[in-house]
Amino acid sequence: MPLQPTTKRLTSVDIASMKGGTPIVALTAYHTQTARLVDGLAEIILVGDSLGMVMHGFETTVPVTLEMMILQGQAVMRGSARSLVVVDMPFGSYEESHEQAFRNAARILKETHCGAIKLEGGAHMAATIEFMVRRGVPVMAHIGMTPQSINTLGSFKALGREEASWKRFVDDARAVAEAGAFSVVVEAVAEPLAAKITDEIAIPTIGIGASAACDGQILVLEDMLGLSARVPKFVKKYGAIGDQIRQAIEDYATEVRARTFPAKEHTYDMKG
Ligand code: KIV
Repeated sequence: MPLQPTTKRLTSVDIASMKGGTPIVALTAYHTQTARLVDGLAEIILVGDSLGMVMHGFETTVPVTLEMMILQGQAVMRGSARSLVVVDMPFGSYEESHEQAFRNAARILKETHCGAIKLEGGAHMAATIEFMVRRGVPVMAHIGMTPQSINTLGSFKALGREEASWKRFVDDARAVAEAGAFSVVVEAVAEPLAAKITDEIAIPTIGIGASAACDGQILVLEDMLGLSARVPKFVKKYGAIGDQIRQAIEDYATEVRARTFPAKEHTYDMKG
């Protein structure tokens, strides 16, 4: 008889049902250990392709590969049991055709056992989203500032400051919702635009640098913990983990140099 998991993990359907209710908490995680810490406290753990910048020091997310996403997706699944784990599809793994998108999404689902994938793009990706959803792939969309398009956008700056430019973003949100996405990340758009999008579509919006009116919020874990060297202006730091790590390393180095480490109680007892 197959073993039944003792806790029920949230699904994309659970997240979709949270539209307009208690705000959804989402955070990124890329490793087993950080996934353990986030699991159950956030409804969604996103294995974001931001891992290319945060873990690997790339300037953008463009160099991230499908293999990198699968490896870290597996690590996060091993560290979690409650939250819905969403794995980002990296640049170049889904834009070419519906078939390419489905094939690579299926690999992510099969090889990581995560509950959903995320891809960037609005109206121009709607047909692909519909193709995937109809074939059993839960899709989280991502509109507004889409970091994988940095080479055509030119910079990571916020969008939609002028009301005259809003229509395109509202159309994007409607298109991905109608295509069957179960939720949509709305990144770095003007506050009233994010609020309007949230009002107008039937799926949860997950804001990042957008509006408190969104149905949920997401942050990059390392940014909000104070571990990242550079963070976007909108990020509130809830910790100073980078400073604590540095202090711990300095304390260790001081003890090693003073030959006071290892202290007697921290040596192996060979007899024991
Ligand atoms: O890659 C990522 O971490 C993301 C979030 C910031 C939304 O896409």
